[in-house]
Amino acid sequence: MNVDKAIRTRRSVREYKDLPVEDEKLRQILLAGTYAPSAMNNQNRIIVAITGETAKEKLNAAVEAEASEETRKRICARNGGVFDFFYGAPALIAVLSTDVLYPEADCATAIENMALAALDLNLGSCWINQLTRTQNAKVKSIFKRFGVSEDAVIYGCLAVGYAATEPEKKDKGGKVIIVR
Ligand SMILES: Cc1cc2nc3c(=O)[nH]c(=O)nc-3n(C[C@H](O)[C@H](O)[C@H](O)COP(=O)(O)O)c2cc1C
Repeated sequence: MNVDKAIRTRRSVREYKDLPVEDEKLRQILLAGTYAPSAMNNQNRIIVAITGETAKEKLNAAVEAEASEETRKRICARNGGVFDFFYGAPALIAVLSTDVLYPEADCATAIENMALAALDLNLGSCWINQLTRTQNAKVKSIFKRFGVSEDAVIYGCLAVGYAATEPEKKDKGGKVIIVR
């Protein structure tokens, strides 16, 4: 898919088919993340793809256990009464960094790269914020078990899977100024 088309047609997908993401496609998406720019090319990102049902369930339960009542209600309301902070997507990709300069930006560039790569592979995605900068001890211990160092901070996640519904593609109205 041409880059312009990918940028202009990508939309957040919040309903997924009960189908796994093929290993080769997942690898391509993760590779796209690693090619994203980072401040001074620090490459201090750690990209963790979680596809196992047990790991996903444990993460979801850990987030639900610490969610405020308001957040719990909001997340349950958008998933037919069930708490699922990544919409039942078959893959959740967390992006962490150990950097101190611009780690949030370093992770954001990777997340957008992966969202566009997913689209190119006919997959949908949605940025997920519930783990961002989390201090949730259970979540941190789960990531430690994944092999992530304790100083790494999660700056964002991407849910990835086959879209069950086509998201609406309204035009966007961002402000742009060209100075000549
Ligand atoms: C930093 C950031 C955090 C976001 N967090 C969430 C989230 O937790 N859950 C969610 O459903 N969408 C989340 N989104 C997706 C936005 O809601 C979405 O990009 C926005 O509504 C525009 O829609 P579009 O992606 O379809 O163009 C997030 C997006 C960004 C950039």
